[in-house]
Amino acid sequence: MKAWLCETLEGIGAMHWREMPTPEPQPGEVRVAVHAASLNFPDLLIVEGKYQFKPPLPFVPGAEFSGTVDAVGEGVTHLRVGMPVAAIAGTGGFATHACVKAAQVMPLPPGFALDDAAAFAFTYGTSHHALMDRAALQAGETVLVLGAAGGVGTAALQIAKAAGARVIAAASTDEKCDLCKQLGADATLNYTTTPVREALKALTDGRGPDVVYDPVGGDLAEPVFRSIAWRGRYLVVGFAQGGIPALPWNLALLKGASLVGVFWGEFIRREPQASAAALKQLAQWYGAGLIKPVIDQRLPMSELPAAYARMGSRQVRGKVVLVND
Ligand SMILES: NC(=O)c1ccc[n+]([C@@H]2O[C@H](COP(=O)([O-])OP(=O)(O)OC[C@H]3O[C@@H](n4cnc5c(N)ncnc54)[C@H](OP(=O)(O)O)[C@@H]3O)[C@@H](O)[C@H]2O)c1
Repeated sequence: MKAWLCETLEGIGAMHWREMPTPEPQPGEVRVAVHAASLNFPDLLIVEGKYQFKPPLPFVPGAEFSGTVDAVGEGVTHLRVGMPVAAIAGTGGFATHACVKAAQVMPLPPGFALDDAAAFAFTYGTSHHALMDRAALQAGETVLVLGAAGGVGTAALQIAKAAGARVIAAASTDEKCDLCKQLGADATLNYTTTPVREALKALTDGRGPDVVYDPVGGDLAEPVFRSIAWRGRYLVVGFAQGGIPALPWNLALLKGASLVGVFWGEFIRREPQASAAALKQLAQWYGAGLIKPVIDQRLPMSELPAAYARMGSRQVRGKVVLVND
């Protein structure tokens, strides 16, 4: 097999696409012949030791991938050689083969494209948990999605529309805003060129958004929280901009608003049944054509550094998928 091996925490520049011994699955594991893996923001952080989950060195990064089961370890009964699957394993996906716990592998329903399956559960699972579970989004409510052209952002936009909400998609360039329009956003906001508070007032008849989905953090958070509607829910999803915002608590009091944490990895660990139910609904929405991953680029697995560079420089629209052709 070949794999991108992370041996130090010096980032993607210090990693190599290496020939390695093909591993055998341990009891309770399967081996997946990887068809595709997608890049998620935590993949950038994990190879620099900046992510909350710190695997022991050396490791192969790549949290999310799809492929075909090609060997089954002892005690695994529900997965068979030849089955098309998706996996959320935390690591291992940027390779031609990966051994993974059977519990982290999902058999794919018929008609689920392998490229899409590599770019699905992480972003749609996060955004579904955030909007439908943590914010209890209702049809007819207005959702503001920040970083709306990114991975979790495009998923949030599509899920909010599927749930019958009105979506204001916010992003840093007009091109990203145009993509969001094509994906069904009811309105867009370029937060690089437009003052956010005034724009949100105008777009909501002065009420403000009911739900804010924020994977960006940094200095956008406070003006956006000040704009939220009465009984608003502000979803803390991530800090792609780097800065962790601090808010004066009186703002929550004045709006009867909630600051709501979202941690999908912990949700799937602590509440596996609820997570499985959410993924089942998402697979149905995918089958019905309501949601579909936006593939920004499809690159050979050997070109992983180009994918990292694209995400690190804020250029990705939707998801980058790395494939073993
Ligand atoms: N809480 C959870 O359970 C959970 C799960 C998955 C991901 N996340 C987090 O969600 C965030 C987004 O993940 P993703 O995979 O969707 O990443 P992504 O595709 O790169 O999207 C991140 C977006 O953030 C914006 N951004 C603003 N400043 C940035 C900067 N300095 N560098 C890069 N992007 C910047 C960009 O949009 P604009 O250019 O339009 O501003 C970009 O589209 C990450 O912080 C990730 O860790 C959290």
